[in-house]
Amino acid sequence: MTGLEEVSAFLRRPGLFSAIKDLSNPDSPFRGIQIPDNNPEITAGFLEMDPPLQLSYRHVLNSYMSPTAIRRWEPLVRDFTNACVNDVIESGRLDFVDDIANIVPAVLTMAILGLPLADWVIYCEPTHAMVYTPPDSPDPRRVQQASMAMVMRLGECVAEARLNPRPGIIKALIEAEVDGQPLSDEGIIGTTFLVIGGGFDTTTSLTSSAWHWLSDHPNERARLLADPDRLDTATEEFLRFFSPSQGDVPRSAPVWSR
Ligand code: HEM
Repeated sequence: MTGLEEVSAFLRRPGLFSAIKDLSNPDSPFRGIQIPDNNPEITAGFLEMDPPLQLSYRHVLNSYMSPTAIRRWEPLVRDFTNACVNDVIESGRLDFVDDIANIVPAVLTMAILGLPLADWVIYCEPTHAMVYTPPDSPDPRRVQQASMAMVMRLGECVAEARLNPRPGIIKALIEAEVDGQPLSDEGIIGTTFLVIGGGFDTTTSLTSSAWHWLSDHPNERARLLADPDRLDTATEEFLRFFSPSQGDVPRSAPVWSR
């Protein structure tokens, strides 16, 4: 299905499709939203659930994801960015992707989650590899193993956070209830995995694409520098043009599609 009107109409009728990935039954037609499904053994957390359950998880994250909540991080984002520049300044060279766009969103995501900041390195490469590895490359097995290693590490962090929680999304998930019950480790890890996937790859990809385009279009870059009021509109347009998330496709429910 393509076309803004059709997609918008479809998305307003969630009863017509399902995002569920049923791990309990390998023959189930509910195989989640990844096409092809490169990770048959794991789900993408509540991204592969349907309302109302999906919304219960989503509500826990809402207060951390609002524009006001994110704006509070701005001074820290500036500090992280300055630290990245200072790290390479003596060399006289800076790689905008490797030295900034790759690091700042990752460290920020760690902070929002309440995970040790230094751990960003453990999650970074596997998270990007899950997105950039084509299904027909010889690599998916390696990527799958790396993502399993990430899940294991997250398991350790959640166990640690249960004893000694730091402020952040993981603490909120530990304290949350869904259907009157506390979340299982699996539910917490799945949600954390999703925030890491969202927080690391999309923003790095979008920022890198935008900077690349601006370096190829110096006149447009000069226009933006001269008129920073255009930055918000430019950001919206980069987001539209360089869509960094191309792999998520809702799967039609079999009853409806037959
Ligand atoms: C350029 C930036 C981003 C783009 C283009 C993007 C794109 C997307 C897309 C396409 C979805 C799927 C929506 C659906 O199927 O209903 C999604 C969901 C999600 N993203 Fe992002 N994302 C971005 C940044 C982020 C960041 C920075 C985070 C977290 C720090 C994040 C966390 C999530 C979460 C938790 C979901 C699941 C939401 C739900 O199912 O309610 N994303 N994102």
